[in-house]
Amino acid sequence: MAISKITLGIIVLLLGLIDKLSAVSSSCNFPAVFNFGDSNSDTGAISAAIGEVPPPNGVAFFGRSAGRHSDGRLIIDFITENLTLPYLTPYLDSVGANYRHGANFATGGSCIRPTLSCFSQFHLGTQVSQFIHFKTRTLSLYNQTNDFSKALYTLDIGQNDLAIGFQNMTEEQLKATIPAIIENFTIALKLLYKEGARFFSIHNTGPTGCLPYLLKAFPATPRDPYGCLKPLNNVAIEFNKQLKNKINELKKELPSSFFTYVDVYSAKYNLITKAKTLGFVDPFDYCCVGAIGRGMGCGKTIFPNGTELYSSSCENRKNFISWDGIHYTETANMLVANRILDGSISDPPLPTQKGCKLTKK
Ligand SMILES: *[C@@H]1O[C@H](CO)[C@@H](O)[C@H](O)[C@H]1NC(C)=O
Ligand SMILES: *[C@@H]1O[C@H](CO)[C@@H](O)[C@H](O)[C@H]1NC(C)=O
Ligand SMILES: *[C@@H]1O[C@H](CO)[C@@H](O)[C@H](O)[C@H]1NC(C)=O
Ligand SMILES: *[C@@H]1O[C@H](CO)[C@@H](O)[C@H](O)[C@H]1NC(C)=O
Ligand SMILES: *[C@@H]1O[C@H](CO)[C@@H](O)[C@H](O)[C@H]1NC(C)=O
Repeated sequence: MAISKITLGIIVLLLGLIDKLSAVSSSCNFPAVFNFGDSNSDTGAISAAIGEVPPPNGVAFFGRSAGRHSDGRLIIDFITENLTLPYLTPYLDSVGANYRHGANFATGGSCIRPTLSCFSQFHLGTQVSQFIHFKTRTLSLYNQTNDFSKALYTLDIGQNDLAIGFQNMTEEQLKATIPAIIENFTIALKLLYKEGARFFSIHNTGPTGCLPYLLKAFPATPRDPYGCLKPLNNVAIEFNKQLKNKINELKKELPSSFFTYVDVYSAKYNLITKAKTLGFVDPFDYCCVGAIGRGMGCGKTIFPNGTELYSSSCENRKNFISWDGIHYTETANMLVANRILDGSISDPPLPTQKGCKLTKK
């Protein structure tokens, strides 16, 4: 009697486990991806709206400038490849657009908060407004309702809020602004939820203090053991901590949501600390050196006095983590993307393809 009860218990347990496993092992089959962010995931918005991202950007993969600040693909490109979806068309690009499997609202230079000192006016709130317009128009034109709730919503933003704040604030002053930045992030997420978004993949912010252009801009700022700006990375770590806490709150507050928090910081920092082992040169050296000095100058032609100035490109791109002093090379992006895709830096630790509610069969 007792034995049969135990046996029954084990069978019930096993059945539950099998059920759970089969739910975990099946892919979510996201029909679309909607992405929000800054230049880390801008696939051509600023290029279409403001001005072309010049070559040699794009040479490694696209063979031409493809609106991305990198020699090739960005993390978001590897994500859509993995989901067997096409590369995302920027919402702001009307030429040859294909929005059947999502859209990209990320724009280079964007911040979470609508501050005037931000590099771009397309802050997260604006990107969400654009999404709402996109959704409203799509529904009235094509009557597609379901895809918006089945899609994956990816967000990678915050780096510019921190980098800009660091220009005129101390570590402590900047840390004091984090709750307000997170609050704005939360407003955006709740708006997306209200519009039907359910599956979120939230990338935390990278080790901003390791970006070569900032290292050049702040030569006297204390470094961490690997050579990154210690106070700025401390701020990024604090931002990520508060972001993670907020996501955990939202998981409870928004009952039919499924949030994945992705620790992009650790994947990018790992590239810096293991640069040699991974076959990279000096992690703070960068490949495309701008004619105007650092960062954004990659590929720019400037005419200060009628003289044309071109920036250099480099041949051994695969040996660099940083492409232009701000943005990562395709090789670096791929290494980070692989860690995102296999779930090893995610909470819950699920591959991107499985980042949806575990539905019972
Ligand atoms: C839109 O889709 C709904 C549900 O699929 C359907 O009932 C409705 O008739 C459709 N409307 C148009 C204009 O096609
Ligand atoms: C830093 O600059 C921004 C805008 O330029 C300003 O709003 C902010 O108050 C400044 N912060 C400090 C601590 O000076
Ligand atoms: C974000 O914060 C600012 C103040 O910092 C506020 O004016 C704005 O309404 C907030 N919300 C959104 C969605 O931008
Ligand atoms: C134009 O300026 C560059 C530096 O910006 C200088 O190297 C060059 O000699 C100048 N050319 C003329 C024609 O003055
Ligand atoms: C997507 O990534 C997962 C996890 O790394 C991997 O198992 C799978 O083969 C990849 N799929 C495609 C189509 O690249």
